[in-house]
Amino acid sequence: MGLRSKTLELRKRMREAASGGGKKAIEKQKAGGKHTARERILSLLDKNSFQEYDLFVKHAGRDFNMDKKYLPGDGVITGTGTILGHPVAIYAQDFTVAGGSLGWAHAKKITKIMDHAIKMKIPLIGINDSGGARIQEGVNALAGYGEIFYRNTLASGIIPQISVILGPCAGGAVYSPALTDFVFVVDKVSKMFITGPEVIKTVLGEEISMEDLGGAKVHAETTGNAHFYAESEEACFEQIKQLVTYIPWNNEKKASPYPAKLPNTRKYKIEKILPANEKLPYDVRDIIKGIFDASEFFEVMELFAPNIVIGFARLSGKTIGIVANQPAVLAGVLDVDSSDKAARFIRYCDAFNIPLVTFVDLPGYLPGIDQEHAGVIRHGAKILYAYSEATVPKLTVILRKAYGGGYIAMSSIHLRADFVFAWPTAEIAVMGAEGAANIIFRKEIKEAEDQEAMRQAKIKEYKDNFANPYVAAAYGHVDAVIEPKDTRKVLIHSLGISDNKEVDIPKRKHGVPPF
Ligand code: HXC
Repeated sequence: MGLRSKTLELRKRMREAASGGGKKAIEKQKAGGKHTARERILSLLDKNSFQEYDLFVKHAGRDFNMDKKYLPGDGVITGTGTILGHPVAIYAQDFTVAGGSLGWAHAKKITKIMDHAIKMKIPLIGINDSGGARIQEGVNALAGYGEIFYRNTLASGIIPQISVILGPCAGGAVYSPALTDFVFVVDKVSKMFITGPEVIKTVLGEEISMEDLGGAKVHAETTGNAHFYAESEEACFEQIKQLVTYIPWNNEKKASPYPAKLPNTRKYKIEKILPANEKLPYDVRDIIKGIFDASEFFEVMELFAPNIVIGFARLSGKTIGIVANQPAVLAGVLDVDSSDKAARFIRYCDAFNIPLVTFVDLPGYLPGIDQEHAGVIRHGAKILYAYSEATVPKLTVILRKAYGGGYIAMSSIHLRADFVFAWPTAEIAVMGAEGAANIIFRKEIKEAEDQEAMRQAKIKEYKDNFANPYVAAAYGHVDAVIEPKDTRKVLIHSLGISDNKEVDIPKRKHGVPPF
């Protein structure tokens, strides 16, 4: 056979192997509003950039008549490519082939591409659409998952890991996404749970639909397992592309710089956002948009614990991780979920050389029996740990309230923020003036002829003395009190001089954070 006929044979083999589970299975996949694994990879990656590997790998299972089956690519497509010019390693499980179930060869294909990603130091994207461990392959399927989990952990903090849930992801399989940095879900397509509705019904007698148990909304809003929620696969891919532009390829690089752009200060007038009455809420995202490049803010975990806002933006073209209390929700308090949300994001930014800017306006940690019993001590400690541990440039702007433990936790100078700025509207105190006056002037108020007049006088006295940034500034706990309109300029300056920041930390294997 000459080259031409051998080339034709190769093409025929490739066509066969790339055809997935056949027409009927593909039709079923499409009827569910889902794309095929190959279509997903091709629409996510830059045109003509995908290089596939291990297309001809054969499945390993021989029992239960598996030796007589043909499973193209063993139900997973692996390769490398680029997204907007950024290199990535990628795998996509193919539900049309044995339900995308994970056997030994399927797992080996995934771990091989993971090893490449770790070695080449490029981001890894995993598209999950699978019935889980291939039942016919028994322990070898479990072994495959174990090998993936180990590599997820090994890669953590070295390369960005992105999981996209585009179908079922059940049983132990959910733990690979859970170990990665960002999880994307799509409405009505994504399903994640440890035990499905059938098992729950049998064991506990509880009835619930798959969607209500582990659908996209549930994970984006309630469990906090998902970081990005989209209405369609196309919208999800656009989110992934955007994320890739904000993050560096690995922990030794910085995120790619972009041309600096001014914010739209006509739309987001920074001096006009705080309400005149300090008790009224506002949307802290308007402040972010009034400061950062092009008024763009790429929010992470938008629907979960909305009392804290986290996400990426650019300042003078450089990626910044933003953490901000959200006064519009629960007055921006810290609680179990918002502490978890912020702490993990801070650690991500720190691992990947992304400077942090923190905006502070909160009355403190949320009081209550529910919170205490849900472990607000342990979870709240995570944010203290994450900020203290972070060595990337840390800039803090106190907008309004910075009370009690909240003042310390939100990237205070005591947790080694590099620069803390306060607006003239900042109130830095142990607690609000009403509560403080009621406690420290209890006797005077009780003995006064007009108790209410005395209470108001004492509240005013406390406010005049403490509800401002100048006491903290007098002790150097605040580096500068700045006018709101100067915030962007001051942050750009501080970022510029923090570019070569170095911190000596005592040698240790690793810390023991309050996981
Ligand atoms: C082998 C599987 C499979 C599996 C699906 N298939 N899951 N084959 N092992 N785990 C096959 C089906 O037999 C079928 O093959 C094809 O994939 C499509 O599946 P359907 O059931 O027809 O699809 P659908 O109706 O859409 O239902 C999808 C599903 C269901 C909900 C995911 O297939 C299902 O419940 N599968 C089993 C889920 C499960 O219990 N997995 C094990 C989890 S334990 P044919 O040949 O008929 O087309 C686990 C442990 C991991 O994963 C532990 C790690 C530590």
